[in-house]
Amino acid sequence: MANILILGGTAWLGRTLAQAATSAGHSVTCLARGASGDFPVAASGVVVDRDSPDAYAAVAGREWDLVVELTRIPSHAHGALAAVSERARNWVFVSSCSVYAGHSTPEADEDTPRLDPLGRDERYTPEVYGEAKSACEIATLAARDSAALLIRAGLIGGPGDPTGRTTYWPLRAADVRGPVVTPSDDGPHYPQHVQIIDVRDLASFILNAGLAGRTGAVNAVGAALPLCEALNTAREAANTNPQLAEYPLSRMADDGVSPWSGPRSLPLVLPLDPDYAGFARRSDARALAWGLVRRPLLETFRDIIAAEEPWTGRQLGAGLSAGDEAELLAAS
Ligand SMILES: NC(=O)c1ccc[n+]([C@@H]2O[C@H](COP(=O)([O-])OP(=O)(O)OC[C@H]3O[C@@H](n4cnc5c(N)ncnc54)[C@H](OP(=O)(O)O)[C@@H]3O)[C@@H](O)[C@H]2O)c1
Repeated sequence: MANILILGGTAWLGRTLAQAATSAGHSVTCLARGASGDFPVAASGVVVDRDSPDAYAAVAGREWDLVVELTRIPSHAHGALAAVSERARNWVFVSSCSVYAGHSTPEADEDTPRLDPLGRDERYTPEVYGEAKSACEIATLAARDSAALLIRAGLIGGPGDPTGRTTYWPLRAADVRGPVVTPSDDGPHYPQHVQIIDVRDLASFILNAGLAGRTGAVNAVGAALPLCEALNTAREAANTNPQLAEYPLSRMADDGVSPWSGPRSLPLVLPLDPDYAGFARRSDARALAWGLVRRPLLETFRDIIAAEEPWTGRQLGAGLSAGDEAELLAAS
């Protein structure tokens, strides 16, 4: 049994990780405010705001077999490293493929250049997420003399995705409200891909690689699939045969439809800019060599639908509303 500290644990991935670790018999402590959600039932909770001066007092004097840091705020990463690192055997920083400076080359590996780190006196905002994660990576390696594992996650998917990006297509296929407005690649664009890692597979990988003492950086990404294959998989998971209304991607800008995420969007669709040609096609070779096990996308999509049953047609954080779809269909 290992003694594990999760810096976070009240949001989606952190809670999934805590559940995986406690189910495996480990002793888990989660440190967070409790603002993002409840603390996992089987874990010990330390309720604290990491902006407060003595944020780590309750966990600093203890030995940890593994610390998993989920933050995106460099000052939080620095504070935890200063207070806790000395007594931590293994340290995982959950980073992101957003740290990479470019996304134009398919199959790019962990050695490709990263964004310049956010400066120590610069404030975190979502616009500098990649730079902030880059700063957290550098702080972690410096404080640990490189004895840390940087898990660069790609798009995380599965039941409970708070962003709606990975749940939209299977739930839309399961919804019988009318023709599904479906992306059709109509121009001289690069081929669109999707690369989703199931949150449960990512949690297992973090736990296993972290406890095994792996160090260095690793892309923890799903299998890269053409977008059309992923959309077919969503329909197969829903076991429906919905009418499809093909929507040319070249219309997005004129119609005020966003790619990727958010309201009035086509989730998972990438911007039609060749700079994104390698975005959902990162190399997974190192993660597979280090034991990443991934379930098929069909299983992820089926579980997303099962978790929402009976589906109420509620509006997700990403995708087209019924009104958006009607408007786009009327204009075509
Ligand atoms: N979603 C994706 O597709 C994706 C892709 C790549 C990488 N990632 C990374 O994957 C991880 C996802 O983690 P997650 O789902 O658990 O969500 P998260 O929102 O990134 O987790 C943040 C955790 O930090 C805690 N926290 C935030 N501010 C705090 C403060 N002032 N004091 C104490 N605790 C604080 C939050 O808890 P409280 O609010 O309760 O305090 C929460 O438990 C992140 O590292 C993210 O950057 C995500």
